[in-house]
Amino acid sequence: MSLLEVEDLHVWFDLPQRSHHGGQVHAAAGVSFALDAGERFGLVGESGCGKTTTVLALMGLLPPNALLAGEVRVDGRSILAGGEDSVRSHRWTDMAMVFQGAMNALNPVKKIGWQIAEPMAFHGIAHGAAARRRAGELLEMVGIPAAAAERYPHEFSGGMRQRASIAMALACQP
Ligand SMILES: Nc1ncnc2c1ncn2[C@@H]1O[C@H](COP(=O)(O)OP(=O)(O)OP(=O)(O)O)[C@@H](O)[C@H]1O
Ligand SMILES: [Mg+2]
Repeated sequence: MSLLEVEDLHVWFDLPQRSHHGGQVHAAAGVSFALDAGERFGLVGESGCGKTTTVLALMGLLPPNALLAGEVRVDGRSILAGGEDSVRSHRWTDMAMVFQGAMNALNPVKKIGWQIAEPMAFHGIAHGAAARRRAGELLEMVGIPAAAAERYPHEFSGGMRQRASIAMALACQP
């Protein structure tokens, strides 16, 4: 048994009938792979082939017009069958995502440090001053001074935003 097992995963997106394409897009078609602790896995393919869709499916973050089939197991437990509840307990704690386009992952009206601390508080990992200190450490880890935790996303460069979203993904030690 592997840490993560993806078996014959399919994702379809429903498109409005009036659109040019109509019907459905088969965005992921029979994706299978497995990953053990400490392993790295690269998924490579042309633009639009379904890489992001595959990972959004694992994270339970697909939009409502998505249809899913197949099997995803974390530590041997199926996470797709149980719907939102069974995915949520794994999101950010066991599995995290560095989003393509950091601005999609960052809230423009919240300070960076608050945003990194938020999942730690939500999952009961750290609160208050301890969470803020940990957020500063995570920023330092990606090469950003801890004091920048007090800044907003629009005050960061593109590369800093991308690194801040990496810090956020690491916050709960997935
Ligand atoms: N929300 C959506 N509704 C409808 N179609 C979608 C949606 N999201 C993605 N698609 C379609 O699904 C297919 C796969 O898209 P996806 O974003 O997974 O590609 P990708 O491999 O990550 O591409 P890139 O390398 O450009 O990031 C594309 O045809 C895309 O147009
Ligand atoms: Mg993509």
